[in-house]
Amino acid sequence: MSESLKIVGIAGSLRKQSYNRQLLKIAGELLPKEVEFVIADISAIPLFNEDLENDLPGPVVDLKQTVQSADAVLFATPEYNGSISGVLKNVIDWLTRPRGQSSVSGKPAGIIGGTTGMFGAVNAQMHLRHILSLLNMYVIPQPLVLVSQIQNKLDAQGHLTDATAQQFLQQHLDRLVQAAKRIKIEN
Ligand SMILES: Cc1cc2nc3c(=O)[nH]c(=O)nc-3n(C[C@H](O)[C@H](O)[C@H](O)COP(=O)(O)O)c2cc1C
Repeated sequence: MSESLKIVGIAGSLRKQSYNRQLLKIAGELLPKEVEFVIADISAIPLFNEDLENDLPGPVVDLKQTVQSADAVLFATPEYNGSISGVLKNVIDWLTRPRGQSSVSGKPAGIIGGTTGMFGAVNAQMHLRHILSLLNMYVIPQPLVLVSQIQNKLDAQGHLTDATAQQFLQQHLDRLVQAAKRIKIEN
């Protein structure tokens, strides 16, 4: 059996200079070479509309295919008003539809996140953990990767300058890869 793994990264922000997308890029550099890592482009995903779920919009079809073809999903979530962004919830809603055709069920999920505030998206991450568990994803339990005041922890080249955050991120990714390998073998 092939050992190759594919992980897709989804950042819950459309901002051009999104710190959370930058976190995904850093994660891509920390993953083992044999892991194919792609960051999903969610910029063209429309607002969810149940009327369209049996004739999915093209960008949604593409996103669902990308996620379905992956062995794990790595979510990088900002925190908006104490929860995940509407953009991220919208993407998750599309990924679970139509009923019975979830693109995420059964897959391992990593959750990381950064905010400019003091608490590193902890509320958003807890909410996301709850949502993904209900969607039958295997969420990596520890370590939490809560990058607070992230604007002070990235250098001009986009590298993390905070050694603790970097260490937790590496451990989280190692566990995501382990989980993806195990679940791939079981299936
Ligand atoms: C609508 C809105 C609500 C926000 N609410 C929070 C919040 O509850 N807690 C927090 O730490 N930061 C909050 N922020 C600041 C974000 O952490 C910051 O904008 C961050 O850079 C967003 O992530 P991004 O860089 O990936 O776009 C909020 C930002 C916006 C635009």
